[in-house]
Amino acid sequence: MKNRFHTLCLCLLCSAVFVAAFSLAAKAEPIVIRFSHVVGENTPKGIGVEKFKTLVEQRLPGKVSVEIYPRSEKYTDEQALLAMLFGDLEMAAPSFPKFGKFNRALQIFDMPFLFESVEEVHLFQQSKAGQQLLTSMEDKGIRGLGYWDNGMRVISANRELRTPADFKGLTFRVEPSNLIQKQYAQMGAVAIAMPFKQLYDALKINLVDGYENAWSNILSRDLHTLRNTFTEAGHSYLGYMIVTSVKFWDSLPEAIRQELEKILTEVTVEVNQLALDKAKSDREKVLQTEGVKVITLSAEEKQDWKEALKPLLQEFEQARPDILAAAQAAKQQK
Ligand code: LMR
Repeated sequence: MKNRFHTLCLCLLCSAVFVAAFSLAAKAEPIVIRFSHVVGENTPKGIGVEKFKTLVEQRLPGKVSVEIYPRSEKYTDEQALLAMLFGDLEMAAPSFPKFGKFNRALQIFDMPFLFESVEEVHLFQQSKAGQQLLTSMEDKGIRGLGYWDNGMRVISANRELRTPADFKGLTFRVEPSNLIQKQYAQMGAVAIAMPFKQLYDALKINLVDGYENAWSNILSRDLHTLRNTFTEAGHSYLGYMIVTSVKFWDSLPEAIRQELEKILTEVTVEVNQLALDKAKSDREKVLQTEGVKVITLSAEEKQDWKEALKPLLQEFEQARPDILAAAQAAKQQK
């Protein structure tokens, strides 16, 4: 009798544990991916992150949800990289200058007059060396999941910039990058690194005379209403690495990780097409604004810029001859 009572109690306990475990599993909270970026929603990156969220929540319903923090709402890009390492954020897509402190090799993407078109950048990104850069920060806890484009940078100021001499005495807002700061120093200007969210105000109060950026960022933040002269020198490319923390990505169940990577590949195709289209259409919209002037350089003027900026390439070559050689070889595949 006593034994039977014990068996009954045990059975009841087991069922209770089973029911509790089952209902817990049924109610399991989705994995949350917090994705931070610094630009407007109507940019290739802004639209890409929204698309990523839509596809993730369609294909992994109840399993993964995505929270987007645009326009530096929560973090600047530099803060985002640290937040990811501290487990306060799961994904971000900073522009390449923001990675300089983690791996100098990534400066290759911002090297003036190395890549003269987005197509050339793609050839390098698809090469073995380009793919290896995605995992080159893993020792620091950061994993690259892919590359997204914005477009070629243009330079804007309150005066025409045709020759290096035209830069003399001007102050420019730049992304946090030793390389880009040196680029302006070589042209005789002063560069101040500051987060993207401060650029509009810095121009408005004349803290800086000018800046460089891609057309979609200029239009989406109305920067053309503050400076109306643009130089299209084709000097450098603005693009992004989509990143996560190694710890977070490795903690995901295999099937979920694979689906997320598949979605990112699909979204990347869309973002890059959008970047190409917006580089034209947003440029056109800016040009329709009264008073806006676009300057293109003559072959001689461009050569003067290249000469002035050559030391940056030489300095990088000393540090990473392998990366420079790989980029130059990839460009030849055209
Ligand atoms: C900037 O800081 O100017 C850009 O990196 C912003 C961006 O993400 O495109």
